[in-house]
Amino acid sequence: MTKTRVSIEEQFRRAHPRSEALFHRAKAAIAGGITHDIRHLLPFPIYVDRAGGSRKWDVDGHELIDYWVGHGALFLGHAHPTVQQAVGNQLGRGTHYGACHGLEVRWAEAVLKLMARTERIRFVGSGTEATLLAIRLARAATGKDKIVKFEGHFHGWHDYAVAGVRPPFDRPVSAGVPQGVLAGLLICPPNNWDAFAALTSGRDDVAGVILEPGGGSSGTIPTDRNFLVRLREFTRAQGMVLIFDEVITGFRFAPGGAQQRYEIHADLTTLAKILAGGLPGGAVVGSAEIMDQLAFRDDSVWNREDRVAHAGTFNANPLSAAAGIATLELLADGQAQAKADRAGVILRTGIAEVIEKLAVDACVYGESSIINLFLGPRRHGLDISGPVSRLDHRLLMGHPNLEAYHLLRCALILHGVDLPLFHGWLSAAHSDEDLEKTIRAFEAAVRLMRDEGSL
Ligand SMILES: Cc1ncc(COP(=O)(O)O)c(C=O)c1O
Repeated sequence: MTKTRVSIEEQFRRAHPRSEALFHRAKAAIAGGITHDIRHLLPFPIYVDRAGGSRKWDVDGHELIDYWVGHGALFLGHAHPTVQQAVGNQLGRGTHYGACHGLEVRWAEAVLKLMARTERIRFVGSGTEATLLAIRLARAATGKDKIVKFEGHFHGWHDYAVAGVRPPFDRPVSAGVPQGVLAGLLICPPNNWDAFAALTSGRDDVAGVILEPGGGSSGTIPTDRNFLVRLREFTRAQGMVLIFDEVITGFRFAPGGAQQRYEIHADLTTLAKILAGGLPGGAVVGSAEIMDQLAFRDDSVWNREDRVAHAGTFNANPLSAAAGIATLELLADGQAQAKADRAGVILRTGIAEVIEKLAVDACVYGESSIINLFLGPRRHGLDISGPVSRLDHRLLMGHPNLEAYHLLRCALILHGVDLPLFHGWLSAAHSDEDLEKTIRAFEAAVRLMRDEGSL
């Protein structure tokens, strides 16, 4: 009797009946059934019940090694005892005072101490709010309107940020964005000095330049450091505000973020994720000169006409502040970053070995504690070994094998690993055993996909 093979999708369905039932209910209540676009998974997302350290457990009882770790926010892992305790202590003292409080001052001082050459901070509610405020500050500081943004760089979901994210880059990734907003952006190919020079030459209306210094879309488009150096020199000379979006890389690439690692410093930096220790929060940091545009003065004309306005009910709320302070204190000496970086090397190397051993048309790359995966480089003519500046970012961001990514994610989940579709984030909580298991799971998942001819 011949054994009929059960497809990955069918195995996934059979293993996750409770998740499937929850998704069924979710679709009738939550728009699109999910609460963040990148949680979209075919045939349905898994629902998680609890988490601790590098692991999480889904509602069907499966244990998963987690490479989401709170979309990169939980650098110390899930439910870290020191962070838990700090939040627990604060919980009993109130969650919102509608007033200034000592924790926000301590949190501010902790951030400024880690981020070199910053003098002031303003807390916001998320990374999206941070980039929105930074763009406003840059415009106000220069009295100019245009912002240069790079293709494939991600800065959240507000109207300015959804332009030039995925190909075709001349169209925003969302409907509902006014033409007037799009007209305020100059979209430039990344790592391409000639293109940048051509785009900006002869213009006197450019307020600033925003980019992810660690590479567009969490390193999917790796950074060319020479490009960053030139950009720093050029923007300084031209009086443009250079904004580094360190929502991912802040406190991860080094205690002082990507700018410490690269020794290149921005005028304004946006932070979120690790900043708030896994609770909601974000911030903009920078020089007093630019940041103090937010300050009230003894001058009613300034206050009404010239000041940069900013509000937000949950800015620097005591719970996020408590989690943020506890986290940043544990990250200040760089040891956690060194551990996570080492884990990144082990994981990328192990997965690259599997790819080579099984001659899979895939490649793995990344910097620091991030792992990026591209499926189909040979089929699509992508040479990842060449210089960064020659990588085709349209291909990297186009993810031509989208179905295969979904299937691989399901196959990995079946083997106890939850890796986001295109990149994963490591934490200081990932152990050597986790990495070893993940590499074995990757091999098993690839074999499953091979068996059904999908890789
Ligand atoms: C580089 C970057 N900027 C901004 C954001 C937006 O942050 P948030 O999701 O907190 O709004 C993200 C989110 O992943 C990000 O990766």
